[in-house]
Amino acid sequence: MSKLWGGRFSGGLDPIAWEYNASLPFDWRMAEMDVRGSIAWAKGLMKAGVITLDEQHQIVKGLTDILAEVRGGQFQHAPSDEDVHTAIERRLTELTGPVGGKLHTGRSRNDQVATDFALWLLDAIDRVDAYLKLVQTTLVERAEADMGILLPGYTHFQQSQPILLSHWWLSHFWPLARDRQRLAQLRERTAVLPLGSGAIAGTPFPIDRKFLANQLGLKAITPNSIDAVSNRDSAAEYLFIAALVAVHFSRLSEMLILYTSGEFGFIELSDAYSTGSSLMPQKKNPDTLELTRGKAGTVIGRLTGVLAMLKGLPSAYDKDMQEDKVPVFETTDTLCLMLPVVAGVLKTLTVKAERMQAALNPAMLSTDVADYLVRKGLPFREAHSLVGKVVLRAQQTGVRLDQLPLEEFQALSPVFEADVLEVFDFAASAARRDVPGGTSPAAVQVQIQQARNFLQVHKVRSALPPSETARGGDGS
Ligand code: ARG
Repeated sequence: MSKLWGGRFSGGLDPIAWEYNASLPFDWRMAEMDVRGSIAWAKGLMKAGVITLDEQHQIVKGLTDILAEVRGGQFQHAPSDEDVHTAIERRLTELTGPVGGKLHTGRSRNDQVATDFALWLLDAIDRVDAYLKLVQTTLVERAEADMGILLPGYTHFQQSQPILLSHWWLSHFWPLARDRQRLAQLRERTAVLPLGSGAIAGTPFPIDRKFLANQLGLKAITPNSIDAVSNRDSAAEYLFIAALVAVHFSRLSEMLILYTSGEFGFIELSDAYSTGSSLMPQKKNPDTLELTRGKAGTVIGRLTGVLAMLKGLPSAYDKDMQEDKVPVFETTDTLCLMLPVVAGVLKTLTVKAERMQAALNPAMLSTDVADYLVRKGLPFREAHSLVGKVVLRAQQTGVRLDQLPLEEFQALSPVFEADVLEVFDFAASAARRDVPGGTSPAAVQVQIQQARNFLQVHKVRSALPPSETARGGDGS
């Protein structure tokens, strides 16, 4: 079979080495981007006087036909196709004859692959962003629907203070807001054109690179051809953001898994997002959430793999870099399933408000008792130590804090008066935390508005697939 770089070689490649070298089985996913890049390049060559307008038309017509074949799934791969770039160039020559052989003038697969990959990443960023917004919207809707429900807040996974469930839902909204900001910033850094950098040194033809960037919807051109073909920062950064997204979803999942256990019973997953046991008929397992927690590990691994691949590379392009694609593609596939699944879980779960209420223990109001003493003039440190003694006393006598007789309080300090018992009101405790960002109903209402404003300002660039929109995504 004839290879695009075959001239210098007299012997053929060992079949297994050929298979090892080839990237077509995975980089075919960039076919549309490759065609778009080539159409821009053909126009650039014409503007530079390298090909005639008629040749440009022939090449663009051939590439447009190839795009239709790619989209229609009719593109036939040949045994000589090493990667997406060689496959499309081979097909172009079949369709247009020798003029197709002019397309690669002044271009290298090194600047070509960097361009295709940037375009692919931009598309992936937009898709992940749309799914993140879907989850964010679901969290705000939950916060609105569950307003007024109290549950224990945990630090060190010990009961700490009562909080509003809506506040807790929104605590998972803001990490995703930061993820979306990170994606937006990455988008800016990724929308820079490498094409025109050649193999390493630039192209010897007077190509208008700004025109190319414009054709491809990119905002800028790379300032250094060596860096342009060496740079895989966007892939690494994308994988880092994806890993952080996955970590955020993993932490949410871990908590929801605990909440579904018999001991907590705070929430119940819908049948649509849980599975049964093959042996134990009573089981309803939170598999979707466990998989989310597990896949976060895999996503982190892919980031680590790409950083390790990059760390020892000498200058400019090295074939090692071909290993950047699969982790990015697979991570995108993972997120494009993980995010809508978690959105579905959140949308359809049932909150057991009475179980949450029942789990609230008056000991969680110990800080409020200390604050009560502070309001009566005691320094907080003294109040803290005094309430510690009250807690110990209640424990020793085997009663809940709110059932300790007033005399016991007063035996520890005369500052305690009968109104101390008024402190034992969980809703009042939450309502007192009325600072911006606090758990009071009023502060949480403001927060819901802030979250809505964020969604309003941070529009998505690509619509979700119709199936997701039908399931409640707004796609805006
Ligand atoms: N398939 C290669 C990759 O994905 C394309 C670039 C090949 N460049 C080269 N000089 N062999 O990295």
